[in-house]
Amino acid sequence: MIRLGVNIDHVATIRQARGEEYPSLVAAARVAFQNGADQITIHLREDRRHIQDTDVSAVKLVTREFSKQLNLEMGCNDDIIRVAIDSKPDWVCLVPENRQERTTEGGLNLLDAKNFSHIKDSIIRLKEGVPSLKVSLFLESNLEILKKVKDLHVDAVEIHTGDYARAFLNEDDLEPYFASFKRAKELIKEMGIGFHAGHGLTHDSTVALIKKHFFEEFNIGHWIISDSIFYGLGSVIKKLRESINASC
Ligand code: PXP
Repeated sequence: MIRLGVNIDHVATIRQARGEEYPSLVAAARVAFQNGADQITIHLREDRRHIQDTDVSAVKLVTREFSKQLNLEMGCNDDIIRVAIDSKPDWVCLVPENRQERTTEGGLNLLDAKNFSHIKDSIIRLKEGVPSLKVSLFLESNLEILKKVKDLHVDAVEIHTGDYARAFLNEDDLEPYFASFKRAKELIKEMGIGFHAGHGLTHDSTVALIKKHFFEEFNIGHWIISDSIFYGLGSVIKKLRESINASC
C-alpha cells in the first residue's frame, strides 16, 4: 500500500492571515483521516508563518484518535528541535530552511561538511530525545548527495519532486526524472530505508509516479488545499445564499 501524507500547512496559512481560531487544523486533520490519509504532515517553520507550536501537539492528538501518524517537517534549528522532542511526532522530515523562501526550495545539502555534521548532530539529538522517532531527509534525486545518507542514522529519504511536478505541468519530457528516481531508488533500497516523495505534486503528477512504482509514500499539501476550494466553494456559497433568502 502506498502511504498518503496530507500536508495541512495551508489551512493554517488561511487561519494566520486573519489571526482567528478558524479554519481549525484539528478539524482538517480529522477530515483527512476520515477520507483516506495515512498521516498528517505539518511544517513548523522558524518564522511560524503557518503552523504554530501548539498545533503540533493538537494535531498529534488527532493522529492518536485515528491510530495514524504525525510527520513533522522542520529545519535543524535548536528551538524547533525542542518542540519536536516535547511533542514526540512519529516522523521528523528534516528540510533546509531559508527565511526568504516562499516554500522549501530544494533538498538538504549533505555535500557541505559543516552542514552534514550539523544535520548528523540534529538527528542524534532528536533520536535521543524521542527513542521511537523515525527520521527522513528531504533530498534532491542526486546520487552524489544520496550516497552520503549511509553515514547518517535515518529511516527514509523524501525526494524533492518540485522540478518533476513543474515539468509535468509544463508537459515537458518526464523520462529524465523517471530515470533519476529509478537510480535513486536502487541506491536507497540498498541501504534498506524508505523512499518517499513530496513537493509540488498534483493529482495527475502523483498518479503518473505511482504507476512507476518508485515511492512508498507521498506528502502532498498545496494542491490538495487548492483543489478543495473548487470542491467546497460552491456549496458554501449556496448554503449562505439559502440562509440569506430564508432569513429576510
Ligand atoms: N514534503 C516536504 C519536505 C515539504 O517541505 C513540503 C512543503 O511543506 C511538502 C512535502 C508538501 O509540498 P506541497 O505543499 O507542494 O504539496
